[in-house]
Amino acid sequence: MLAVKHLQKTFGLIHAVRDVSFKVARGEVLGFLGPNGAGKTTTMRMITGFIPPTAGTAEIMGHDIQAEPIPAKKLIGYLPENAPVYAEMTVWNYLEFIAEIRGFNNRANHERVQQTIADCRLDAVKHQAIGTLSKGYKQRVCFAQALLHDPPVLIMDEPTDGLDPNQKHIVRTMIRDMAARKAIVISTHILEEVEAICTRVIIIRDGTIVANATPTELKAKSRAHGAVELMVKSTPSDMLAKLGHTASAARVEVYPPLAAQAVTGTSLPRVVVYPRDAAQLSKDIIALVKANPGWEISAMKTLEGRLDDVFHELTEVKN
Ligand SMILES: Nc1ncnc2c1ncn2[C@@H]1O[C@H](COP(=O)(O)OP(=O)(O)OP(=O)(O)O)[C@@H](O)[C@H]1O
Ligand SMILES: [Mg+2]
Repeated sequence: MLAVKHLQKTFGLIHAVRDVSFKVARGEVLGFLGPNGAGKTTTMRMITGFIPPTAGTAEIMGHDIQAEPIPAKKLIGYLPENAPVYAEMTVWNYLEFIAEIRGFNNRANHERVQQTIADCRLDAVKHQAIGTLSKGYKQRVCFAQALLHDPPVLIMDEPTDGLDPNQKHIVRTMIRDMAARKAIVISTHILEEVEAICTRVIIIRDGTIVANATPTELKAKSRAHGAVELMVKSTPSDMLAKLGHTASAARVEVYPPLAAQAVTGTSLPRVVVYPRDAAQLSKDIIALVKANPGWEISAMKTLEGRLDDVFHELTEVKN
């Protein structure tokens, strides 16, 4: 549905995007991640024909965004960063205007606007000037604008930015419900959002793709993947030593650190055993726990790994 081919963008001396290529199929929700300034917005602007690339191009269902901008743009819904919408217009008038330029005739126009307002839960504010709306409502108006023509390809730059937790949930549910019929790209800084809705993740750093994998594959690269976490009532002196000397264990860490526990004395400590041999670790620890009935353990689980860790490892600036 979407093929991004060797996109590059330079602004004077700034190399914002360097040779970015990827594809998105129907049914995929691609999470586009990267630190501030990595080139996410610039890439999205080029894909949607908002700015011309320095080199490379994007094809929307076979239509080159530069050679055939009108057929390509008909197939795209774009939610830009920071919801640029006309402040003087009311929500209704703005969406009617969008429907008109999207080519709906008068009756279809009215129905489309009504439906979109209902879908995006904008009924309460539909006659209000956009400039007087709260930030979250403005974001929803912009979201509505992107969906109005029911486009097969959706490009959304931080779609849940500024929304309250309930609205975030609604927007994520809407994205998930639409996903089967569309190819969707979203940029976000919220890693739990990635786990909730993305089928695949691209991480970009300094304008270059550094990872392209499913969330599960990425989490498996985390140092915590396969580690065993124990919730304990106390940490008897033999516990940490015995856990650490298990053949399949690499290292043991206690959270919060023992020194901090002495000060706060409140939260139950978590003991995390990092694996040397992930396949064997949980079996060994279960055996060890059985052999030491004096240890007071309230819960035990194997960790999947954390996207935060992988994101950090792939994008941190090494001085
Ligand atoms: N019009 C422009 N003129 C000059 N430099 C620009 C322009 N637009 C973007 N840049 C630069 O390109 C780089 C990438 O910016 P971009 O907005 O694509 O980052 P981003 O990944 O979207 O970051 P964020 O997470 O903060 O939204 C930055 O260094 C930015 O300053
Ligand atoms: Mg951006």
